[in-house]
Amino acid sequence: MKLLVVGGGGREHAIIKKLKENPNVTEIFALPGNGGMAEEATLVPIGAKEIEKIVEFAVKEKIDYAVVAPDDPLVLGAVDALNEKGIPCFGPKANAAIIEGSKVFSKDLMKKYGIPTAEYAVFTDCGDALAYLETAPVPTVIKADGLALGKGVVIALTRDEAKNAVCSMMEDKVFGESGSRVVIEEFLTGPEVSVLSFTDGETVVPMVSSMDHKRALDDDKGLNTGGMGTVAPNPYYTDAVAERCMKEIFLTTIKAMKAEGRPFKGCLYFGLMLTPKGPKVIEYNCRFGDPETQVVLPLLESDLLTIMQATTNGTLAETPVKFKDAHACCVVMASEGYPGKYETGKEITIPNEIKGDVFVAGAKLSDGTLLSAGGRVLGVCAVEDSLKGAIDAAYEKVSRIHFDNAFCRKDIGRRALAAGREE
Ligand code: AMP
Ligand code: GLY
Repeated sequence: MKLLVVGGGGREHAIIKKLKENPNVTEIFALPGNGGMAEEATLVPIGAKEIEKIVEFAVKEKIDYAVVAPDDPLVLGAVDALNEKGIPCFGPKANAAIIEGSKVFSKDLMKKYGIPTAEYAVFTDCGDALAYLETAPVPTVIKADGLALGKGVVIALTRDEAKNAVCSMMEDKVFGESGSRVVIEEFLTGPEVSVLSFTDGETVVPMVSSMDHKRALDDDKGLNTGGMGTVAPNPYYTDAVAERCMKEIFLTTIKAMKAEGRPFKGCLYFGLMLTPKGPKVIEYNCRFGDPETQVVLPLLESDLLTIMQATTNGTLAETPVKFKDAHACCVVMASEGYPGKYETGKEITIPNEIKGDVFVAGAKLSDGTLLSAGGRVLGVCAVEDSLKGAIDAAYEKVSRIHFDNAFCRKDIGRRALAAGREE
């Protein structure tokens, strides 16, 4: 089988490595992929948002199955366009990807179907939003409606901060049209859990839970990033919590999307907060998380391609989805300065024996040498019987990898370890 994977980060590398385990897979094309994937995939210089070119390439190469991993092409209708040419795909159509593409859509959906989430108000007029903030409780949360590279959320501790955030989104348009509508929502507290799930629009199968570490520095200090590391499973996500989420959130969401005429097929990511009043949805993503995928897929025992095809064909209920009873940790090695300014072009050395456990995100090949080419450069993963074992093993591998100006958080998994001990 010839496969195509749209996207070029660590998440896509993890997906490609897992897909390769299926002996029927003969070739995988990565569009655009990155230099670190060259051993597993054929790199094709077509950007993830170049939908017409993606379709043209897929038709020309007679692709048997395509996986669209990032949010942008999903929201732009890459799956619809590929399906029109008869190419089956993993991922939601645009009318379902809107669950991530518009915060207003997702908040209104949750309200209509009674799915627990933060209280909120929607504004299309900056003056109205500012007037509302005069009396709104703080801290408060300001969210741009559309996609904003994961930066469209501001936790405002004071009214002034909240007003500044609203003005920069609605008037200064720092996120372009994504900020022409904003959601102002209640500030919630509690541990966060990421639950990725497979769904064919009827059946939903949650994957092993995980915990992201979004801040750049140890002890959750510094700026928000795309994610500096992950562990799975998440110790806060107990069986009792899982049961409640299944009933109140996962099934209700899948049914709601179907009832709206927007059946969701692919990976639906539930970003949850376990508040004192129970689990609530912080966000939906219409795709695998990054770097959650880098800990979830190494724990998947069943064949990924078979499960993906089952989400497309509507046969997920009859398809086994099994995870190992083990723990995974992924430590992101980034370029010093990320998420601000950083230097690239540094030579990366990875010992051969641990290459299988390294997911490459921001790197390129130059005359056969792997060079850093982004903020988040590598995700270094380990799977062990215990969480402590996985954390230690991941950091041991990190210590054997080198590129100039590399930095990583030193405390990935520490909070999870402490939480596990409290139980
Ligand atoms: P999002 O981009 O929606 O995932 O939001 C980014 C981060 O902001 C989340 O991971 C949370 O840590 C935080 N956040 C979002 N919404 C809220 C909320 N209503 N209350 C508290 N924290 C929030
Ligand atoms: N790690 C968070 C995300 O993928 O959106």
